[in-house]
Amino acid sequence: MTNTPNLRENPVFVALDTPDLDQAVAMANAVRGHVGGVKTGLEFFSANGADGVRAIVDLGLPVFLDLKFHDIPNTVAGAVRAVAGLGASIVNVHASGGPAMLDAAREAAEHAGGASRPLVIAVTVLTSMDDGDLKAVGQTPPATEQVVRLARLTQEHGLDGVVCSPAEIAPIRAACGPDFKLVVPGIRPDWAASGDQKRITTPLQARERGADILVIGRPITGAEDPAAAAARITTELGLTP
Ligand code: C5P
Repeated sequence: MTNTPNLRENPVFVALDTPDLDQAVAMANAVRGHVGGVKTGLEFFSANGADGVRAIVDLGLPVFLDLKFHDIPNTVAGAVRAVAGLGASIVNVHASGGPAMLDAAREAAEHAGGASRPLVIAVTVLTSMDDGDLKAVGQTPPATEQVVRLARLTQEHGLDGVVCSPAEIAPIRAACGPDFKLVVPGIRPDWAASGDQKRITTPLQARERGADILVIGRPITGAEDPAAAAARITTELGLTP
């Protein structure tokens, strides 16, 4: 059992990309009726630490704590145990940490036990890296091949899924089947500005391609009325707000 929500009910996790605790809490409260959960990450954690995460968890919404652990197995296991204890519903690691690290992360989450076991997912290749960047760090392009290789590795080691771009949903689904969770940022409703995201899809397109969780930030948090923006997305997904 995990404290992860029924994802089919509302797959939208709003990205609270701020180091400011009060702002994060206010935004989560504003949109809480229209989202399935919230995502917070390194920026927030670096500023507010475990107490900040507890304050977000205490709001009662499922929390994806996006800290992308990448270290030796023993250290990652300790970090996963620690964040599982904070009540996060989804945590993540870098798949390129390798088989032993993935096993350690999974086992640590399992031993966190009971209702607090988080889903553990992996980052494959950062979407900020292109084929030239991969070569620069000694990996073999094309990026999509590396993404699928690391998604398979993640699945072989019993993790729950991966974070991927909309463009990667189809090849990963083909390689890893229907039960592997795909958490997808880079989502833009057609009425929202694309900002710095390049390969984007609408929420509905991402769902139709097979995304399980849609991570959406600025189209909601940057809107004049964030609750209305979240509600509009929910409606476009065919869900009742
Ligand atoms: O504002 P926006 O909708 O672009 O926010 C997307 C969120 O997903 C941000 O928190 C961003 O850091 C995160 N993310 C991403 N691309 C990835 C992984 C995470 O945009 N490949």
